[in-house]
Amino acid sequence: MEMTSAAVWSTIAVLLTTILVARMVKRNTVTAAAAAAAKYCQPGMAIPHDPLRGCRQYPAVSGVALAIPVITRGLQAVAGELHRKLGSVFTVSFLGMIKVTFLVGPELQGDFFSRLDSEVCQGETYKMTVPVFGRGVLFDVDQATRTEQIAICFEALKPARLRSNVETMVREVEEYFSRWGEQGTVDLKSELNLVILMVASRILLGKEVRETMFDEFASLFGELKDNSMHLVSHYSPTLPISRHRRRNAASAGLKALFARAIELRRASGRAEDDALQRLLESRYRDGRPVSDNEVTGMLVALLSAGHVTSSNTSTWTGAFLLSSPRHLAAAVDEQRRLAARPVDHAALSAEMDTLHRCIKEALRLQPPVPLLLRSVRRGFAVRTREGKEYEVPRGHGLACYIAFNHRLGRVYRDPGEYDPDRFGPERKEDKAAGKFAFTAFGGGRHACLGEAYAFLQIKAIWSHLLRNFELELVSPFPEVEVNNMMPGPGGKVMVSYKRRKLN
Ligand code: HEM
Repeated sequence: MEMTSAAVWSTIAVLLTTILVARMVKRNTVTAAAAAAAKYCQPGMAIPHDPLRGCRQYPAVSGVALAIPVITRGLQAVAGELHRKLGSVFTVSFLGMIKVTFLVGPELQGDFFSRLDSEVCQGETYKMTVPVFGRGVLFDVDQATRTEQIAICFEALKPARLRSNVETMVREVEEYFSRWGEQGTVDLKSELNLVILMVASRILLGKEVRETMFDEFASLFGELKDNSMHLVSHYSPTLPISRHRRRNAASAGLKALFARAIELRRASGRAEDDALQRLLESRYRDGRPVSDNEVTGMLVALLSAGHVTSSNTSTWTGAFLLSSPRHLAAAVDEQRRLAARPVDHAALSAEMDTLHRCIKEALRLQPPVPLLLRSVRRGFAVRTREGKEYEVPRGHGLACYIAFNHRLGRVYRDPGEYDPDRFGPERKEDKAAGKFAFTAFGGGRHACLGEAYAFLQIKAIWSHLLRNFELELVSPFPEVEVNNMMPGPGGKVMVSYKRRKLN
């Protein structure tokens, strides 16, 4: 999700630092504090001065430089090493000034996701979204107003509301792929990126943008994406650099475009069935209407949150499926069984279990938001599954490394394998390990409000592709992007297609 990207990447920078640290750990050169912590925090040992509460000193490692890229072993391996050596709770300290505590494993994620905002807050880590979404919206307002604004966005996209949008969504998908020839080769990544933007412009922004302003909208949104989520923006969102000037201009341009769409809507005298209309008709609890500025800001936020995440997930789903003949065959069989049925809301939401699991498994292995950050406002204690307690003090950053948690061998069998059956009724690996075993959409207090929308559109796309085309991945399986704040599939994802009709 775009709004989390800076946080993700700043913490990825933290993780890069931990590569150095991991090497120090390996060579037993941890700092004195870490050494003491490591000594006192061996499994089963209690700190002598606090025998009743067990080990409360968090194991810490010192991070000193961000320079070394993932080098040979990669982030997952380094996190794995820290986890093995230090346990499920460990803190990375930057010169003692910034301390980020990592919580590993589903049983600890409740502390990350479900604590009150007064204890664990998002605000600080998302401040850099203010120049993107604009003033008066989400992270530019107090917590109570933000909670109401999120509730308003949720209302606009809640599953029951989306029911009536599915026909339009499916039509948009069909129209898009009707432009493909009888056979050919395409970059799946850029194709899916575009079709998802078209669906969003129709379902979220409405017919005015889709039918009369799409090219301008796509260009402004592309400019905003490219210039808004860099590390420098996280630390200094208003620094007067060219990137920020372009970001500000794109954000202002998008909001002006949405304002024109609102004018057209009002002038038409019609009420449409889309998120724009629902936002325009929303009110705060005290009866105050949502202003046009707030509506345009929320629309930018929803697009930022939903586009890259959905686009990357669709492409990964394709890459995994087209590299896994058994699962591809199962997904095609399911579409064959449903071929006589129209692709409507019921089919997409309840009858495509195999496809659903294929997408979910892509999300497990390649979560578009691999890491989340929070700030600790009020210290609290966490308890590991081994029964040890650690204190997480006020002022620490808190990290949930989703991509790492999704590959824990104690939660998922053969965690590196693409195996959608793990979510099936016989195994239910995500459920067996507790409610935070699968957190691609976050969870708890700030869980993604676009999950239903994302699944509907990705299934609409993939059910159409599987029904109408024989597909083959003709480029190598994609590497994960580096140097990108939202690490999706890197490079082009070339796919050859040939039309077919399932029956
Ligand atoms: C595959 C697609 C998607 C993924 C993987 C995803 C992932 C996430 C994650 C991990 C969070 C939690 C952030 C946190 O805890 O700090 C989140 C929140 C959010 N998502 Fe999504 N998202 C997706 C699609 C969408 C879509 C399509 C929309 C809207 C159109 C959307 C809107 C939001 C919003 C507004 C929030 C903030 C909720 C809050 O702070 O209370 N997302 N998403």
